[in-house]
Amino acid sequence: MKNAEQPVSKQATGKESYSLVNNQTGESVELPLIKGTTGPDVMDIRSLYAKTGCFTYDPGFTSTASCDSKITFIDGDEGILLYRGYPIDQLAEHSNFLEVCYLLLSGDLPTQEQRHKFRHDITRHTMLHEQVMFFFRGFRRDSHPMAIMCGIAGALAAFYHDSTDIKDPRHRAVASSRLIAKMPTIAALAYKYSIGQPFVSPRNDLKYAENFLHMMFATPCEDYKVNPVLARAMDRILILHADHEQNASTSTVRLAGSSGANPFACIAAGIASLWGPAHGGANEAVLNMLQEIGGKERIPEFIKRAKDKNDPFRLMGFGHRVYKNYDPRARVIQRTCHEVLDELGAKEEPLLDLAIELEHIALEDEYFIKKKLYPNVDFYSGIIFRAMGIPTTMFTVLFAVARTVGWVAQWNEMIEDPVQKIGRPRQLYHGQTFRGFTPIHKRK
Ligand code: SDX
Repeated sequence: MKNAEQPVSKQATGKESYSLVNNQTGESVELPLIKGTTGPDVMDIRSLYAKTGCFTYDPGFTSTASCDSKITFIDGDEGILLYRGYPIDQLAEHSNFLEVCYLLLSGDLPTQEQRHKFRHDITRHTMLHEQVMFFFRGFRRDSHPMAIMCGIAGALAAFYHDSTDIKDPRHRAVASSRLIAKMPTIAALAYKYSIGQPFVSPRNDLKYAENFLHMMFATPCEDYKVNPVLARAMDRILILHADHEQNASTSTVRLAGSSGANPFACIAAGIASLWGPAHGGANEAVLNMLQEIGGKERIPEFIKRAKDKNDPFRLMGFGHRVYKNYDPRARVIQRTCHEVLDELGAKEEPLLDLAIELEHIALEDEYFIKKKLYPNVDFYSGIIFRAMGIPTTMFTVLFAVARTVGWVAQWNEMIEDPVQKIGRPRQLYHGQTFRGFTPIHKRK
């Protein structure tokens, strides 16, 4: 990682640039370089089409910066993740999720007073409008809870007409608080609905992660005391999943929001993108994969399949677009795995042993070494959730609960960005060129 102390300017100095030369015509264009506070410089190509008549081509955006952000930074080679400059392992160790929410949204850690007020605001937005309950009843009991999360988050766009002016910072702030506050409630309600148990209301005397676990596992029949070790573990997992630069779901929220769309509808779009097994759906896919592998003796068979170009099977929870080193979040989650299993007296968890052995074998394998494929955030998280009694279909829901603050922080940054425009990529076209309409009696 470049030394962040370097006094580099944020904007193109006009001196540093790349020259692009057309080898046929000899024409050249200057592409100014813009330096960040750290990380790769960017070539400013905004005028490229006007100057050259050419687009750039970068499906998957492997080399494209879509925005100028101050929120999260990843050094993929070093395996470093910073939220507003603070390393993820220090935040996971010393902070808590609501404090990290404040940090991501505002840019700084809160003072005691700011933290108290923020917690008060979020806590008092955790309830859902009574009418929302009718939406749950429209789903089949066996609906995937991510489908329910998409539906209910989108439905909230119909409820808050007091905060629809996204250009008004106060409207954005209240929409942001509502989204962060209500996601755990929606998630727990989706779970209760799937098991046919009565909904449990959020409580203002419980902290965020504790409140979520209480809504998940309490019943009207008896008091339910949340295990503080599990609450701490859940809070830490929420911190680890809170934001991650311009990943697929965050880019989805930014693109949807760039048209001025309703924030609740934009978050629903983010939930939909996160659900994919290549993204947040991987935590559910990892558990299903470990159960399919079954025992250590079958690991070589699955490693072989993961390396086989003709086999669509991939080692779920491995590999990452940015990390070409160990995902720092995976390390913290693996440690938390042991804490939770010890607390629950699960002296041995075969799936954890299997995951550790699978990681060990994969990291010694030439293919994974060469392609720099390491465990990512999804590799161990499902084992903790399963130990907590959370069903596999709920794993990505928890990822969505955590990532809501990242989506909201990035959405706010996009709206506040003075250079923000509606996102409208161009394309490389290989379809039919112009042709006249053929009446049906002339078609062969
Ligand atoms: C998340 O973007 C983010 O920041 C996401 C995330 C966040 O916090 O928002 O970090 C959360 O989504 C983590 C990733 C969870 N997904 C998985 O665990 C699914 C398994 N992983 C892969 O599908 C893949 O690694 C991706 C999707 C995560 C990344 O894919 P890329 O960057 O597009 O890389 P690629 O698919 O082009 O793979 C590069 C090479 C390929 O081989 P070649 O075509 O070059 O020969 O590595 C191979 C791939 O076949 N490869 C794998 C593999 N991942 C990549 N081979 C076997 N098993 C794997 N898991």
